[in-house]
Amino acid sequence: MSLKEKAVLVTGGAGYIGSHTVRQLVEHSASRVVVLDSLERGHGASILDPSVKLFTGDIADSDLVEEIFTAFEIEAVIHFAAYTYVGESVAEPLKYYRNNTAAPLTILEAMQRHGCKQFIFSSTAATYGNPVSMPMTEEHPQQPINPYGASKLMLEQIIRDCETAWGLRAVFLRYFNASGCAPDAAIGEDHDPETHLIPLILMAISGEREHITVFGEDYETPDGTCVRDYIHVLDLANAHLKALDYLGKGGSTVACNLGTGKGVSVREMLTIAESVTGTKVPVIYGERRPGDPGELVADSARAKELLGWEAEYTDVRDIVATAWKWMTGPAKGRYANVKR
Ligand code: UFG
Repeated sequence: MSLKEKAVLVTGGAGYIGSHTVRQLVEHSASRVVVLDSLERGHGASILDPSVKLFTGDIADSDLVEEIFTAFEIEAVIHFAAYTYVGESVAEPLKYYRNNTAAPLTILEAMQRHGCKQFIFSSTAATYGNPVSMPMTEEHPQQPINPYGASKLMLEQIIRDCETAWGLRAVFLRYFNASGCAPDAAIGEDHDPETHLIPLILMAISGEREHITVFGEDYETPDGTCVRDYIHVLDLANAHLKALDYLGKGGSTVACNLGTGKGVSVREMLTIAESVTGTKVPVIYGERRPGDPGELVADSARAKELLGWEAEYTDVRDIVATAWKWMTGPAKGRYANVKR
């Protein structure tokens, strides 16, 4: 019997979705939570609980990864660490394939060596590419249209091969549009640069930006602007805990979409943000952003059936309200403003 402390390893645990998941894990998991994060894009200040052991470094650093697997009995890995900008992935594909596809092999190799066979992977709706049917089920063709989506899809394939070879079991959580923040505003979304719709609208409202540019109003959608499925980060975090339970009970490898199943257009989001904040948004209408499909909405029936997961934040107003609280709270949307 191993005398080592049992732990769940969270790579990228200081990132946006990772930090919200770490917080829920600390509250609900019986095992120690260990984070491996380079802090290149994550924030040390987003890890609130002192019981969390933070290793600062790269997931490709085999010595560091071995140190973690030697110090703890890692029962499962939740893998967030990745680059996530679609535009950047088009300009610098090798950076994405190295970090999102090649670097995690170091983690998988350590798992194989140490007999750890449970893996939860942050996958994405971007693995599907242009939609051919809506809402999208997990059976939708996976034909990514950018290196970001391709880099994630390749890791899905690698994991399936590891399942065949040495019995790794995984849940691929294919996120739709992650949004919102912890409702107490203790942690939140802090990207640099920020490219996501909700924070950008709120920055335009707070005066941090001059305006928001709507990327295209000639899509084949009811109001001509893009429709997305915005899913609260706490709901995403909760899905990881459910996925851990599922694997712990012997569940086999599966992909699950995570969304609310409700589409919200960019124009609708502007109206919602105005009503939540009570302030008008300065808006400019611009060209389409290359690579943006008109509509992406999830069918998450499988997550409900297999993981017992369902979104609790089903009204996007509540999602925007939590993001606004983070932006207007002590942090003003930036970890640099908080002393911990
Ligand atoms: N949008 C604007 N103006 C902006 C920013 C965004 O109109 O300044 C629009 C986009 O065109 C899109 C919607 O708002 O229609 C949402 O855009 P986001 O950038 O917030 O999110 P995406 O849907 O582009 O991207 C998300 C994730 C990616 C993931 C992708 C899957 O952030 O990581 O979904 O398609 F790859």
